[in-house]
Amino acid sequence: MDDVAAKPIIATNPFELFAEWFAEARESEINDSNAMTVATCTPDGRPSARMVLLKDFDTRGFVFYTNKTSRKAGELNTNHHAALLFHWKSLRRQVRIEGDVCR
Ligand SMILES: Cc1cc2nc3c(=O)[nH]c(=O)nc-3n(C[C@H](O)[C@H](O)[C@H](O)COP(=O)(O)O)c2cc1C
Repeated sequence: MDDVAAKPIIATNPFELFAEWFAEARESEINDSNAMTVATCTPDGRPSARMVLLKDFDTRGFVFYTNKTSRKAGELNTNHHAALLFHWKSLRRQVRIEGDVCR
């Protein structure tokens, strides 16, 4: 990886920091700065992951859309735990988010 000057992290609230980084990503990413990986799991712990688009976010959570008949929706119906991952290559940053999903 290229050497990059480390930028001090000012925000202490993770949602504020995410908002700051997301705004920067919207400026610097060529494509789909709102693209993220969502990982879900079967009840017996077999994971799967795919890309989706972030539609909204606030302190209550991060919103994405999915077809109700999809694999991810089926897995989330039986296991609410999920993980999100953003990677903003232009910024050399990734953000990992874990939590429960609700409709
Ligand atoms: C850049 C990108 C964005 C995508 N955005 C969405 C999305 O917002 N919602 C969605 O259901 N699928 C989206 N897809 C398709 C999913 O990656 C996936 O193929 C599809 O949802 C079926 O996944 P599943 O069978 O694991 O549920 C996107 C794919 C790409 C490459």
